[in-house]
Amino acid sequence: MPVEQAVRIVDEDASGIDRAFRDEVIAGLSQPQKAVPARWFYDERGSQLFEDITAVPEYYPTRAERQILSARGQEFADAIGSGRAVVEFGSGSSAKTPLLLDAIAPSAYVPLDISGDFLRASANTLAKSFPDLPIHPVEADFTKPVTLPGAIAGAPRLGFFPGSTIGNLVPRTAVDLLRQMRRTLSADGAGETPAQLLIGMDRIKDTAVLEAAYDDAAGVTAAFNLNLLIRINRELGGDIPVADFAHRAIWNDDIARIEMHLEAQADMRFAICDHDFTMARGETIHTENSHKYGKRSANTLLLAGGWTPMRRWSDDKNRFMLILAEASPLRMAP
Ligand code: AVI
Repeated sequence: MPVEQAVRIVDEDASGIDRAFRDEVIAGLSQPQKAVPARWFYDERGSQLFEDITAVPEYYPTRAERQILSARGQEFADAIGSGRAVVEFGSGSSAKTPLLLDAIAPSAYVPLDISGDFLRASANTLAKSFPDLPIHPVEADFTKPVTLPGAIAGAPRLGFFPGSTIGNLVPRTAVDLLRQMRRTLSADGAGETPAQLLIGMDRIKDTAVLEAAYDDAAGVTAAFNLNLLIRINRELGGDIPVADFAHRAIWNDDIARIEMHLEAQADMRFAICDHDFTMARGETIHTENSHKYGKRSANTLLLAGGWTPMRRWSDDKNRFMLILAEASPLRMAP
């Protein structure tokens, strides 16, 4: 079945600059602790570098999650059933999707991703393996409300959010997103069956293992982090001295998260879209959080987002978990 043309939802100004990117970069670099939201990592090069990260030996989450998906297919089929429309949030290369689609025989697949070219290429590749499956890609920022294609009206829905991408959001934003997903999946045309969400969450573990996963010996994660500066220079006409920054990955135990930073190696000044910035040597730009979860913190987050956890699966080394949750009914509770 041919892949439908992706719907494009990016707000550009007259010179082709993505307004949200510009505004968030300028605002983030104007704060006392400079920061840029991690979602801006994923231009085409950033998406490719992330795929490369998933293959480095230190980065275990992708392999651990894939192991769960391949080993537990029958259990997914029993818990989810067939005929659901699978909506994948931030589908990227859709690398793990075939394992799920094979297991549950869905009625349609809707990949949502902010990187349109990547989205179309991945959807076309997937269509070759699933020639009878209707595929409706949507280019979208899934942190905002998304209207799902009319073609899946009436089908019960399964949201698929693998990779522990939820961990890249601070709890407040993660809860907002979970609620947003619940709304998206339960909106008009969803039918009577409550929506389900299959979500990947990385577990808290040894600090050395976590820090190595975000600072691999081959320097792929460093390149991924630095690519954000290259993207700012290219797309926003900046003159950041990229070579004067170093990648840092630090475990913050109080909040149970890995933090990635870009540390200035010299005093510097640079400009982006007519805004001037200075940085002192040692000062950092905070570029990513990757929260890790225990059983209880994962459940609490899901409940706060309007999802009732139903099942949890872990890999054989207990590094990573996939949780199946159901949209919680809006009813009175004590
Ligand atoms: C996409 N996300 C779940 C990755 C993570 O593990 O937090 C992004 C990443 N950043 C550095 N390495 C991987």
